[in-house]
Amino acid sequence: MKLRKPLFAALAAVIGAGTLLSSNLALAQKDWPTRSIQLVVPFAAGGPTDSIARLIAVPMGQALGQTVVVENVPGAGGTIASTKVSRAAPDGYTIYIHHMGMATAQALYEKLPYDPMTSFEYIGQVADVPMVLLGKKDLPANNFKELEAYIKANGAKVTMANAGPGAVSQLCGLLFQSRLGVKLTNVPYKGTGPALTDLLGGQVDLLCDQTTQTIPYIKDGRVKAYGTTTMKRLPAIPNVPTLNEQGLKGFEVKVWHGVYAPKGTPQPILDKINAALKKALNSPDVKKRLEDSNIDIVSMDKVSAKGLKSHLETEINVWGPVIRKANIPD
Ligand code: MLT
Repeated sequence: MKLRKPLFAALAAVIGAGTLLSSNLALAQKDWPTRSIQLVVPFAAGGPTDSIARLIAVPMGQALGQTVVVENVPGAGGTIASTKVSRAAPDGYTIYIHHMGMATAQALYEKLPYDPMTSFEYIGQVADVPMVLLGKKDLPANNFKELEAYIKANGAKVTMANAGPGAVSQLCGLLFQSRLGVKLTNVPYKGTGPALTDLLGGQVDLLCDQTTQTIPYIKDGRVKAYGTTTMKRLPAIPNVPTLNEQGLKGFEVKVWHGVYAPKGTPQPILDKINAALKKALNSPDVKKRLEDSNIDIVSMDKVSAKGLKSHLETEINVWGPVIRKANIPD
């Protein structure tokens, strides 16, 4: 078939523009990054997720030759940030760190504006963080047994801080209440950074938080530690018994973290981000600072798209039934 001349010219122009566009894209991917990269954190500044983000942002930026800027987008237990990142331009200039809330949100919210399994690219797991059940300094209970008695006597007068539905502090707190068969007054914050500030100030009674920030306060007695969410005691606070050994059999919450990008971010860029993340996690300074907070860097095979995606899928399947059985949210 013979093409009419104007149509042929138009097609040639479109094909030419397409070729130019794809070679521009290839060039943009090759040169990436040419400006700073935004690392979105789904909780308030000063909390556990923010701290891990800031810790890896510097060495990642050094590895990539551009600054990695942390942007806090708190609210709704992390789902506001997840929505924002799922809609961001897939150009490598937006990346995202989130914890296991990426897996639990589906069971906590009726409908999410994103799908954890299809709305993102996966860069790799980062670290696993234990949690500790904390109380304000002048709470009358001095150990877990006394806390149980205090809670049974005071019920909803006892307040428990959390970072909203989807936050691990909320998950831990509500699992704890479900195991004790009590309902406390749950107080949501935009992150456990501000929640911990209020616990230190005595404005709330209890908080289940990650060890990222809490170890120094436990050690100097500014908060009470009633039990860890691990099967073994933590080396940094060996005098704090596990919740498991104090009667809450099998009470285990280990907060894993992953780094993501918007769906469609080109593979060569994802590879560069992955290499920078691995480099950051292998830096002696990062290793030491995480170790001091009893945070375990994951093995390097998990710092991969495959490692993160398959872990996310497993965790969605693990936590969905646990959350439904515990009747969360309340
Ligand atoms: C935070 O960074 O504030 C926490 O990770 C919030 C939480 O999930 O409890």
